[in-house]
Amino acid sequence: MNVVYKEENNIATITFDQPDSRVNVLDTPTLLEFEHIIDQLNNASILKAVIIRSAKKDIFIAGADIKEIETITEVADGKAKSQAGQRIFNKLEDLPMPTIAVIDGAALGGGCELALACRYRVATFNDKVRIGVPEVNLGFVPGFGGTWRLPRILGLQGALKLILSGNPVEGRIAVKMGLVDRMYSQNGLDQRLQEFVQEIVTTNKRRKYPVIPLKGFNAFLEKNGFGQSFIFSKSRESVLKATKGFYPAPVKALEVVQATRALSRRAALDIESTAFAELAVTPISKNLVSLFYLTEKFKKLSVSGVSPADILTVTKAGVIGAGIMGGGIAQLLSNRGVWVRLKDINHESIAKGFKAAYDVYKEAMKRKRLKPAEAAARMGMISGTLDYSGFAGADIVIEAVVENMDVKKKVFGEFSRQVPARAILASNTSSLSVTEMGCSVADASKVIGFHFFNPVHRMPLIEIITTQATSKSTLASMLEFAKRLGKTPVVVKDAPGFLVNRILLAYINEAGRLLEEGGNIVHLDKLVTDFGMPMGPFTLSDEVGLDVGVKVLHILEAGLGARFKPGKIFDQVSALKLLGKKSGKGFYIHGRKREVNPEVQAFGGNGAGASDEEALKRMLYIMINEAARIIEEGIVDDADTVDIGMIMGTGFPPFRGGLLRYADLIGIDMLVRDLQELEGRIKDGRFKPAGYLLNLQAQKKSFY
Ligand code: NAI
Repeated sequence: MNVVYKEENNIATITFDQPDSRVNVLDTPTLLEFEHIIDQLNNASILKAVIIRSAKKDIFIAGADIKEIETITEVADGKAKSQAGQRIFNKLEDLPMPTIAVIDGAALGGGCELALACRYRVATFNDKVRIGVPEVNLGFVPGFGGTWRLPRILGLQGALKLILSGNPVEGRIAVKMGLVDRMYSQNGLDQRLQEFVQEIVTTNKRRKYPVIPLKGFNAFLEKNGFGQSFIFSKSRESVLKATKGFYPAPVKALEVVQATRALSRRAALDIESTAFAELAVTPISKNLVSLFYLTEKFKKLSVSGVSPADILTVTKAGVIGAGIMGGGIAQLLSNRGVWVRLKDINHESIAKGFKAAYDVYKEAMKRKRLKPAEAAARMGMISGTLDYSGFAGADIVIEAVVENMDVKKKVFGEFSRQVPARAILASNTSSLSVTEMGCSVADASKVIGFHFFNPVHRMPLIEIITTQATSKSTLASMLEFAKRLGKTPVVVKDAPGFLVNRILLAYINEAGRLLEEGGNIVHLDKLVTDFGMPMGPFTLSDEVGLDVGVKVLHILEAGLGARFKPGKIFDQVSALKLLGKKSGKGFYIHGRKREVNPEVQAFGGNGAGASDEEALKRMLYIMINEAARIIEEGIVDDADTVDIGMIMGTGFPPFRGGLLRYADLIGIDMLVRDLQELEGRIKDGRFKPAGYLLNLQAQKKSFY
């Protein structure tokens, strides 16, 4: 039984409780059970109210069943599924007695839409309360009446904010927006609910949709046709800007809300279900759904055979190097309740690290995510030092000094003697051998790479690099720690550039070569952003800093061979100290308005340059080929790891499903044929198809 019915004192309680599951989802059997109960209630005129709850901890209802949506391949099937949900929620909405959804955790997607069909919504002070409709993130629109009910409950602006962003809101915000009516503490909740029922029974005048609590200019905008047109056109502008036209769902959602604004419920829901079904069958939606599963899989990574007692809980950390990364890491850790000792070689650097951490907190305060007192308390968890004082209590040390093996080895040798035996010794290196760093310490089983991406507080990925000596419990502890920091971990074996930087630099280097052949900086960047990457290779290079990029390329060349030899242009540009954004000039001049740097463009060859088709192919294929080598060498386990790493570490376009899903779309035969053609023309061997690709071809297989 997925839904339990109980009646007491003429109050009905319907409790969602899917057996053998941590969450409730609205799969077809659950929905039908629920419908059956609602059908019975229609005649139960003695009931004072119906309360809808969940028996799961921190979850109301997580949403519709994504597995069912994934199997939809026909529009008609999708429409029927959406209409079934709509029919049931209409029945809920039309019940004669007051209905109350009690939200004590996540009410997302279909779960939120169910709550919207109730006359009242209450939430608890549980900080796991999240209410929203994240459907657009999966490439479709809400399909159980959400696009119809939200604008009627919240007004256009509030509804569009939720629907178009897909971002859920916390309880506190939900009350402010008018999405929930009351917030109660979890303690004594039953009693509060009884009182609430009493209150609405005596004063129940609420219509299906409450009066929207809007004031001032917003109320004025919403109430007249011109104002509404203005809201729609502004929303459309910002959706197109945010999605760059790559994601049809938010645009469609906007169109649905606009088209159904003045329609009857029946006509409106018909439009909604068609939009849902048409989007749910698209390859973009299928890619986004597979990415959702991928993210879930990596969030749950664990190591088998490690007992919980062997997993270290980090309460105190040492961070060495207070630079761009060290400052960011200190902020992230303190924000998650970890005490941090931040060590550098001089006071100025430590002050910079503090400032970097504070800047992130300042931004959070500006966005009202943190109160000043909270930010101050968290900043107070970071302290600075020039020696290793305070390291005797550290559970973990994360080294983030300059990318230089001699310095790193020296630092590892030093700090490993200061910390307790249990401490994990981690490096944030972006390309150097973690194994070699481990040679400077007594217990190499504690040594591991913990590679954050820049900016630390924003980038969702962490590469965890294991050496042959890294123990299972060290890895298990770091997987737990990554999750606690809110990051998605990938596990990668120790090899130059690990996973993401190795693939990324192969591509940036190729872009450099295309420039040398007569390519144009702006045009090459645009080719890549038109493909869906967040920025082009030269913009990225300027962001990261050319010195950093060239240094890593040299490390990759030394470790992996001539195919990583930096293009001439990178050496020329870095010799002139045109480092990018940090020096004001790189491939671009970073003034008030960004312009291409003619000095660098002039280094480009005078040739005609490759055609657009070839240029894009070379930049993408070199990544796919490198990824295939990485799998072949056993550096990562599978194509999933490459895809999640590239999406979360570089912003590879999610709607394409990932680098290797995209490779499968091209087809292995075609890929190999094109690589061989390039190999024939470009004689240095860098396009030689990886053995792994040739094997896939021979076995008529694909990455997935
Ligand atoms: P940075 O140059 O901004 O900071 C390095 C800091 O280390 C400086 O404050 C310096 O004074 C300090 N330092 C140098 N020698 C030291 C020693 N013996 N003891 C204590 N502190 C010392 O460098 P950044 O960019 O923060 O990089 C640090 C590490 O993180 C490098 O391994 C880099 O490869 C890696 N990384 C960098 C990323 C980036 O985008 N900048 C991204 C991911 C990893």
